[in-house]
Amino acid sequence: MSCAREGREPETKNKGEKHLPEFTRVASTKDIPEGTGKSIRIDGKDIALFNLEGSFYAIHDICPHMGGPLGEGPVEGEHVLCPWHGWMFNIKTGAFAVNPTDGVACFKVKVDGEDVYVEL
Ligand code: FES
Repeated sequence: MSCAREGREPETKNKGEKHLPEFTRVASTKDIPEGTGKSIRIDGKDIALFNLEGSFYAIHDICPHMGGPLGEGPVEGEHVLCPWHGWMFNIKTGAFAVNPTDGVACFKVKVDGEDVYVEL
């Protein structure tokens, strides 16, 4: 699955070093029922993984307002509300609903059987 805001991940493990993205298994499809999300920390990155009608999407988990865990927020259509103060983000793109030119990073996702992979 492609993502319109890829490459905007704010965390880099090794600043200044070239980092080649690769897919990492982050969850089983069974871990995330349809219409829900989950916060996952893996390889030093915070990922919010969502299941929308059987398709999986990943955005940066940390809300830019005050750091709320987006993967724990309620899902409304294609959006997630930050569980702390309600800022709303598009699950497919990471775009901030009020100002789509801003938002959080998103990551490519692929599913192989029951395994969900995110490009980190
Ligand atoms: S921390 Fe997300 S809206 Fe405040």
